[in-house]
Amino acid sequence: MANVVRDPREHPEAILPDLSKPDPLVKFGKNDIALVYGSIWKQRYFTKIGDDYFPEPAQWDITNHVWRPYFVANGTDWWATLYPPDNMKRPTGATCDGCHSVNYNIQDKSVTEWNVGCERCHGPGSEHVAHPTRANILNPARMDYVHANDTCIQCHSQGRPVQNPIAGKYYDWPVGFSAGSNLQDFWTLEEHTLGETTFTHFADGTAHKNRMQGNDFVQSVMYRRGVTCFSCHDVHGTANNAQLRAPISENQLCLTCHGPGLPNGPRTATLEEHTHHRAGTPGSQCVSCHMPKIETTLLDVKVRAHTFGFITPVMTDKYKIPNACTTCHTDKTTAWATDALRHWPERSPWRIEQ
Ligand code: HEC
Ligand code: HEC
Ligand code: HEC
Ligand code: HEC
Ligand code: HEC
Ligand code: HEC
Ligand code: HEC
Repeated sequence: MANVVRDPREHPEAILPDLSKPDPLVKFGKNDIALVYGSIWKQRYFTKIGDDYFPEPAQWDITNHVWRPYFVANGTDWWATLYPPDNMKRPTGATCDGCHSVNYNIQDKSVTEWNVGCERCHGPGSEHVAHPTRANILNPARMDYVHANDTCIQCHSQGRPVQNPIAGKYYDWPVGFSAGSNLQDFWTLEEHTLGETTFTHFADGTAHKNRMQGNDFVQSVMYRRGVTCFSCHDVHGTANNAQLRAPISENQLCLTCHGPGLPNGPRTATLEEHTHHRAGTPGSQCVSCHMPKIETTLLDVKVRAHTFGFITPVMTDKYKIPNACTTCHTDKTTAWATDALRHWPERSPWRIEQ
């Protein structure tokens, strides 16, 4: 998280594509780029005019190594119609920067630092740095599950400020919130009506796009039982993908709390009786069925759902939400998958055929 925003004058290596190769979408050069955003899925470029930053109209698709247009169209982000139609006339302070910096000041547009610094999660730290004790710093691990998860949900969610506009501007981040205070005093999660598929949600309420781990996770059983984002992720950095506390290749992460015979389930004598796929194959990974990659970050580049429920093939037919079985078994039909599930004895037919 520490590298989302970089100044290419200090970090020339931050720019991933080769800007000397001509591309019809790219009408800017190195010298126009004041800040580079992103290095995992997509990279966007910002130019500085006065004391504001503005997005260039092309973004680099890191997975597919191609340029894509960058334009926030009407019908996507809720604020699109409230800003000028030209993307280059939409300053990033109100729509982006509050989530990619520490202490973005809406009056003078200054930041204490770019990126997700310590204070975003631990609160103000100068007193702690001068006299380090446990009493003068916040530790999310000692908060109740709502405040603990809100440490992450402040940025990993789609929503709107409770009061908007603020001094005439529409903000897309929780202005005024700081770690430990009540997020719901500043922020509402994006609304959704069951049955409707929108830019942000599938018909059942699962997120449709990226940066909605918070919107998803609050719907899960694990959230209600007090599990937190940081039960699984260590944001100070780990050797695993997505800063996971344990790898997922052999289900190590999930099996720290789950397993046959454990109270959290699954409730079968062996794991294979639960997964119905041979151990060590992709179909036996917990994340394959419980966290399918169905949330769009850029065209065909998707991230994982965080509701942890199981989306049935029947729901695909009824509500056009992708299910894990036929997202992986691309040559099979939903009827085939439902029939297969019918032969899995520990599954409830009342749930699987809904
Ligand atoms: C409510 C907080 C929030 C707002 C507002 C926000 N972002 Fe982000 N941004 C995030 C989070 C969280 C991530 C990481 C998760 C993800 O990408 O889904 C992220 C990631 C990114 C990435 C990097 C992805 C990568 O591949 O490394 C880019 C680029 C980006 N944002 C650009 C923008 C731009 C441009 C805007 C404004 C138009 C914006 N963001 C507004 C929270 C926010
Ligand atoms: C994105 C949020 C986030 C950021 C940024 C962050 N932390 Fe943390 N930190 C946490 C959470 C959550 C915990 C509790 C869970 C854990 O130990 O990982 C924690 C725990 C800690 C602990 C252990 C405290 C104890 O009592 O055991 C220390 C020390 C710490 N962080 C220091 C830092 C420092 C220094 C930085 C900046 C370089 C930083 N953190 C940045 C979220 C964050
Ligand atoms: C200030 C906003 C902010 C907060 C608070 C925040 N994040 Fe993030 N997070 C981001 C951004 C921005 C990125 C994208 C980083 C990048 O592209 O390099 C990100 C990326 C991530 C990633 C993907 C990183 C990777 O290497 O693949 C994970 C996992 C994550 N955050 C978990 C958390 C957790 C857990 C918490 C709470 C303890 C948290 N974040 C709090 C903004 C935030
Ligand atoms: C039960 C464990 C668990 C919990 C709880 C959890 N995550 Fe994740 N998260 C994962 C796993 C597993 C991945 C997938 C990593 C991979 O594919 O390599 C992931 C991926 C991510 C990513 C990268 C995008 C992607 O899908 O690859 C982000 C960002 C993220 N999580 C943020 C969060 C936030 C924020 C919360 C809390 C609101 C949260 N996670 C709660 C397990 C968890
Ligand atoms: C920190 C412990 C912890 C970790 C790690 C963890 N879980 Fe859980 N999980 C729980 C708890 C607690 C419950 C609730 C059990 C109950 O009350 O029956 C639960 C419940 C579930 C459920 C049932 C939810 C439902 O809707 O019925 C699923 C599915 C699940 N977890 C999947 C996963 C997956 C997949 C992973 C790994 C990515 C994982 N869990 C990692 C603690 C954990
Ligand atoms: C091939 C798909 C698949 C895989 C792989 C899979 N599950 Fe499940 N899991 C399901 C289905 C289907 C359900 C039933 C969902 C329902 O009734 O809503 C379920 C239910 C659960 C439940 C709820 C309690 C129960 O016993 O029904 C838990 C907990 C769970 N899974 C954990 C895990 C864990 C942990 C892993 C990895 C070791 C895993 N699952 C791997 C498909 C899978
Ligand atoms: C991540 C990919 C993946 C997911 C998700 C997945 N499978 Fe599979 N499945 C496989 C692979 C790979 C095989 C071949 C396994 C082997 O060699 O053991 C397989 C084998 C099967 C078979 C036996 C194949 C045959 O033609 O006889 C059935 C039935 C099956 N899967 C059903 C399902 C159902 C139902 C789901 C959803 C609950 C599901 N799978 C989810 C990858 C997956």
